[in-house]
Amino acid sequence: MIPESFIQELLARIDIVDVIERYLPLKKAGANYVACCPFHSEKTPSFSVSPSKQFYHCFGCGAHGSAIGFIMEYAGLGFIEAVEDLAGTIGLQVPQQRPDERRLKVAGAAPLTELMSRAAKFYKDQLKASPHAIDYLKGRGLTGEIAARFGLGYAPDGWQGLAAVFPDYSDKALVECGLVIEGDAGKRYDRFRDRIMFPILDGRGNVIGFGGRVIGQGEPKYLNSPETPLFEKGRELYGLLQARAPIRDEDCVIVVEGYMDVVALAQHGIGNAVATLGTATTPTHVHKLLRQADRVIFCFDGDNAGRKAAARALEASLEHVVDNKTIAFLFLPTEDDPDSYVRAHGAEAFRKLAEQAMPLTDFLMQELKSGKDLAAAEGRSQLVHAAKPLLGRLQAPLLRLQLVKQLAQASGFSQPEIESLCGLPAVVRRTVPARSPRGAPSPIARKLLRVVVQQPVLAARLSTDLIPEGHAETDALNALIKAVAEGSLAGEGFGMVLEHFRSTPHEGLISEVLGELVEEEFDQESIEAVFADTVERLRQAGIRGEIDALNAKNKSVGLGTEEVRRLQQLLTQKQAVKPATSV
Ligand code: UTP
Ligand code: MN
Repeated sequence: MIPESFIQELLARIDIVDVIERYLPLKKAGANYVACCPFHSEKTPSFSVSPSKQFYHCFGCGAHGSAIGFIMEYAGLGFIEAVEDLAGTIGLQVPQQRPDERRLKVAGAAPLTELMSRAAKFYKDQLKASPHAIDYLKGRGLTGEIAARFGLGYAPDGWQGLAAVFPDYSDKALVECGLVIEGDAGKRYDRFRDRIMFPILDGRGNVIGFGGRVIGQGEPKYLNSPETPLFEKGRELYGLLQARAPIRDEDCVIVVEGYMDVVALAQHGIGNAVATLGTATTPTHVHKLLRQADRVIFCFDGDNAGRKAAARALEASLEHVVDNKTIAFLFLPTEDDPDSYVRAHGAEAFRKLAEQAMPLTDFLMQELKSGKDLAAAEGRSQLVHAAKPLLGRLQAPLLRLQLVKQLAQASGFSQPEIESLCGLPAVVRRTVPARSPRGAPSPIARKLLRVVVQQPVLAARLSTDLIPEGHAETDALNALIKAVAEGSLAGEGFGMVLEHFRSTPHEGLISEVLGELVEEEFDQESIEAVFADTVERLRQAGIRGEIDALNAKNKSVGLGTEEVRRLQQLLTQKQAVKPATSV
């Protein structure tokens, strides 16, 4: 866990404008900055960054958040990684790090990423000096320009080639990052020898792993970096960094199986392709892919293995597919992969195929039906039986309904029968953080919340018994009052408030309220006025409530002397209250 005080300090010291400007060209527009939104495809800028609120917001797709949130979304990083990244830019040391990296730092070793980038440079330089590697790449139709874009390299044919750039070849960090293997007798040697090297980059452009292809024939054809503290195969996509702009332009990402497929497609002008790294597609991959574009096309080889890979990708997609995005499957002719296809038929032919890719539901139905005799009652029952676990994982309500209908038609069951046979639970929306499951919204509490998130110090002037109970807004307000009282929310700015509530039950509501307020200009006086007025209204509402309760009691069982006094006191207080100014 990173202490909250560190997050607050970090957000106070960085400027969200500088952070986003590292990735996007920002243009000044009034008090804010604007750009074309990196999270959806657009031609006119609706992405706005507010220096005063330390918050970004897209009026087109509704994405918004703090500087940390931006890095997480844009670079596909986890929270801790994003914090580390930002802290690094201003030379702050994150107090608690992942144990593996911390250990290395304590040992005084260079960070693993630095070793990886040094190795990548070495391989690149070696490629220039190796005619047979260059010939191999040329033979596969690649130009120097594309090789440079993907940072391709060559690992020379020797046992300790890397010793040329790592004088301390015995450094255990070299083993840790997978560049060097330690044999049984403690003898060390380069993992990659006489291979074409494909560096694998993370969202920030750091080299986190390599794929190495044998030149010509040989086993294994590809050798990959092992899982290391830097490299987790089930999360990473090869070529994503290079593909980012083309993906945004086309609002579509193509997922292929191999390194060479990505590079060959780029060579033919199809830049929006990425590859999974010799592993099956994971739900994490799908989640990441759907953040990049509204359309994801899985393009697998035409062989049996490709078909299996597609089925795995289909399963991984089920929980993340949403109704406003499409996932489709493209199957190439049996003998082809994207590389051979685009080389033989050209980019236009490939694009045409991609347009006709099979929608997820069709592919799912086809998979479910395959091998079953739907003319027989048994086959039709098997169909529904096989569909049950898959349907249960599909979270997109409209798509699920479509599938239920198709299944009903194919199986002869009625739609309600399918739904009950498959035990379909109510659809839960997964994409937005859950709001706390509290009663109806309270307009007055929401108003107060809108004021207090703008200036959390005001929470110190609120007393919890003024706030109406039983609403999500109230819970969030109470949490704000507590945070300010404890001093854990010291500063201002939307970014800080949002980060304070990250991963709490209030996150969804706070994010929603901040989103509503992005366009509002605050000035101290009007915030004060609205605050005072709202508090006064709450006080009146409280007084009225108490009077009503006492009156009711008077009617039924009568009041004691203390209660009569209290009622009189309340009635004078009520009279003293002047009518509220409008807000
Ligand atoms: P393929 O066998 O389809 O190779 O593996 P390819 O991409 O067409 O490669 P070329 O065209 O012969 O050069 C697809 C992917 O599976 C992983 C790699 O990520 C590869 O890109 N793979 C394959 C391995 O990790 N190891 C292997 O030995 C083979
Ligand atoms: Mn191939």
